[in-house]
Amino acid sequence: MEVYLDNAATTKAAPEVVAAVMECMQENYGNPSSAHRLGVAAERVLKKTRETLAAYLKVSPEEIVFTSGGTEANNLAIRGVLPFLRRFGRHIVTSSYEHPSVDKVMQALQQEGWEVTFIPGNREGSVKEEELLAVLRPDTVLVSIMHVNNETGAINDVVSLGELVKQRAPRALFHVDAVQSFGRVPVDIEKGKIDLLSLSGHKIHGPKGIGALYVRRGVKLKPLLLGGGQERDLRSGTENVPAIAGLGRAVELLDKESVGRMMAFKLKLAEGIKAVCPEAKVNGPPPAAGAPHILNISFPGFRGEVLLHALEEKGIYVSTGSACSSRKEAVSRVLKNMGLPRDLLYGAIRFSFSPYNTEAEIDYVLERLQEVVKELALFRRR
Ligand SMILES: Cc1ncc(COP(=O)(O)O)c(C=O)c1O
Repeated sequence: MEVYLDNAATTKAAPEVVAAVMECMQENYGNPSSAHRLGVAAERVLKKTRETLAAYLKVSPEEIVFTSGGTEANNLAIRGVLPFLRRFGRHIVTSSYEHPSVDKVMQALQQEGWEVTFIPGNREGSVKEEELLAVLRPDTVLVSIMHVNNETGAINDVVSLGELVKQRAPRALFHVDAVQSFGRVPVDIEKGKIDLLSLSGHKIHGPKGIGALYVRRGVKLKPLLLGGGQERDLRSGTENVPAIAGLGRAVELLDKESVGRMMAFKLKLAEGIKAVCPEAKVNGPPPAAGAPHILNISFPGFRGEVLLHALEEKGIYVSTGSACSSRKEAVSRVLKNMGLPRDLLYGAIRFSFSPYNTEAEIDYVLERLQEVVKELALFRRR
């Protein structure tokens, strides 16, 4: 049996998504900028996905900009707005849990002379209202906080945080990296007074290399890419029409029932692990309080990467941290910022779920995990 539990890194494209991408590549291959029939048909694909996304997010289609994924959406959001905000101040707020596509941009901005405050971490791995309140200033011009953390599944209450931003720093724009929450944890853009929101296709069984940025009407952006002026001049380059068709299909497939399935798998696995390894500790919020698809657990005394490869031998795919950093860094920056002690830091494993998993797969994982923990414990003692 093969069990894929690394869905926070990426997901397998849904069959309906593959069909939509193929149809587009084979039949609807025109350039949306072309004036002829094939161009118009391709343009219709963009319009349809834009409308699907807008309806899902309860925003208007003109507020959606297609990008090459979550990374570009985050870069565009942050770098795009700053030229228009400079005259109001130079202070930016973010958290110490952000994905590298926000964190590294913030570090670069510091080098460029912006004053960036990183809200320090806590054991739950989420940003508390009082923590944000403590750092907001009248000259804060941008706040960027993720909705769901990709390593722990911790959820930030971006609605309350957004309201605070607008009360305490009225000139500040609020950006939310919703790449991990999109389709998993609902977000109210209007209530949260969110100005910019990033999402990505490949976390929801859509294609890789496609994403979108919601840009509230009236928010000015300087594009990162100059060229043909696609996406209302905000993102030049011929649109990735097949991937956009696939993204639209993936959004159409999102439903509440799938979210319930993922949460059921997560709770079953968390409960089962307690029996297999009583000293195992959940990192982040208690399982039921976090995102439905991410469970981060430390096995004290074990090395995360050793467990990962032992599980891989049995056909089970998990992660030790975020996909992008797990092959580079020995320990996770996010877990470190949360203040985890050494043995928990080195023994962390992330299981992440999809609605396509099955209960039998979770049973299989628990059985194999029991074997692996036993084998490795014996080995350790020798
Ligand atoms: C929270 C978060 N933000 C941004 C990204 C980047 O998205 P993409 O892979 O589409 O560039 C990821 C992907 O791992 C993520 O988990």
